[in-house]
Amino acid sequence: MHATPPNAQISRRGFLKASAGALVGFPSILRAQNLNSNVQIVGVGCDGKGYSDLSEVGSHARSKFVGFCDVDATRFAKIDQKFPGVPHHEDFRAMFSKLGSGFDAVVVSTPDHMHAAIAMAAMRMGKHVYCQKPLTHTVWEARQLRLQAAKSRVRTQMGNQIHSAGEYRTGVKLLRDGAIGKITAVHSWQRNSGNGYTKLIAPPVPGSVPESLNWDLWLGVAPKREYAPDVYHPFKWRDWQEFGGGTMGDFGCHILDPVFTALGLGAPKTVRAESEGLNAHTWPSAETVHYVFPGTKYTAKETLPVTWYDGGRLPDVALAKLPAGVELAKAGSLFIGEEGVLIQPHVAMPQLYPVEKFGARPIVREAAANHYHAWVDAALNGTETSDNFEYAGPLTEAVLLGNVATRTPGVLLEWDSAEMRLPGHPEAERFLRRNYRDGWAIPAAGA
Ligand SMILES: NC(=O)c1ccc[n+]([C@@H]2O[C@H](COP(=O)([O-])OP(=O)(O)OC[C@H]3O[C@@H](n4cnc5c(N)ncnc54)[C@H](O)[C@@H]3O)[C@@H](O)[C@H]2O)c1
Repeated sequence: MHATPPNAQISRRGFLKASAGALVGFPSILRAQNLNSNVQIVGVGCDGKGYSDLSEVGSHARSKFVGFCDVDATRFAKIDQKFPGVPHHEDFRAMFSKLGSGFDAVVVSTPDHMHAAIAMAAMRMGKHVYCQKPLTHTVWEARQLRLQAAKSRVRTQMGNQIHSAGEYRTGVKLLRDGAIGKITAVHSWQRNSGNGYTKLIAPPVPGSVPESLNWDLWLGVAPKREYAPDVYHPFKWRDWQEFGGGTMGDFGCHILDPVFTALGLGAPKTVRAESEGLNAHTWPSAETVHYVFPGTKYTAKETLPVTWYDGGRLPDVALAKLPAGVELAKAGSLFIGEEGVLIQPHVAMPQLYPVEKFGARPIVREAAANHYHAWVDAALNGTETSDNFEYAGPLTEAVLLGNVATRTPGVLLEWDSAEMRLPGHPEAERFLRRNYRDGWAIPAAGA
């Protein structure tokens, strides 16, 4: 697929760059101009994961930062040491409009509730987007980002970087090569708890907002609420339904990624969940989510059950056929095949069981790819990334459907993906999208 100018707002320079793939056959002077340029990148969210995202993206020889945006002025210090002199901004909207055609791409590393607002605004301007996982905070947003990326023909990558790690690529290859035959079931788990960072069940006692923080901008699309110290910003926001996705939101796009990639999964047919510790504010302390996916050429049957466990819940360890004394990893996936079992720990090399059958067979490690540089290369050259929104959108939708099911415990939800409906379950359907605060509406793709 070639990048072409997505809309009238794209600059001439951006056009040359975006058209890189399409330049074959064009006068070589145009191609040379493109090949000599850098990708001008802005970062939104500069500390936490943002620091590592920007460090990695910035290590590409042809990436050039032209703006850093963070709502907390104290959060620039680390990235400034690494890339001195990049102008600071507080509000991504003001940065986008100020820089206009002076930037080509954005790295989005904010809390989840703001991913869609930032990525959608950028793609509507024709900018390439690297966006942290989960791609969005709601199912509707994931669908819109996928559609908008295709419409804008920009290069995208979700930030579940382990997708490109040798460990995951090895597991994917083994499964696709049929190491354990066709797959009959998958069990995935992460021992963390969905309200493990705050251990709160109701909005906490408010406190004064630090001078450095623009709390209103931090809230962004979310309803107004008072700031409280040490429970939202930084990092702990992931416990709260308004901002994050609990353990499923935090780890689903990592741990279910090799399941999706290896088995070619798309939209689930059904999803149902049971949980404990759920309240109206924070995510449950433990949950089990039962998916049924349509079968693929890698599955034994016409449907595939995939079960997610967190908060200390685990699959039946007997299924793993582990040798005595070996325990299940802290997190990972257990693939049950017709001819054996593969465990893909998060993150370590896959193992094949039972050892009597597979013990002597060496596992060849697949080379890692550079997840970040692949995106910069794609922006430069019009190549495609493996974790683009076309792939990451449906993965995120499935993960977030798990959270919809968690909010309607015990109910079997049938997913009408084409219509984005959960027929007969309005109480669940309302969680597919959210209301945006006045002034923060996110447009549908193409709107
Ligand atoms: N891929 C991974 O391995 C991995 C690991 C950790 C976090 N993450 C993801 O990265 C994202 C950030 O998580 P974190 O743990 O770093 O959170 P964090 O709260 O520690 O950091 C977020 C940063 O964004 C800033 N910020 C918040 N709202 C903003 C806004 N509207 N505009 C600009 N800046 C804003 C904050 O001030 C902070 O510097 C999340 O989506 C999370 O799921 C991914």
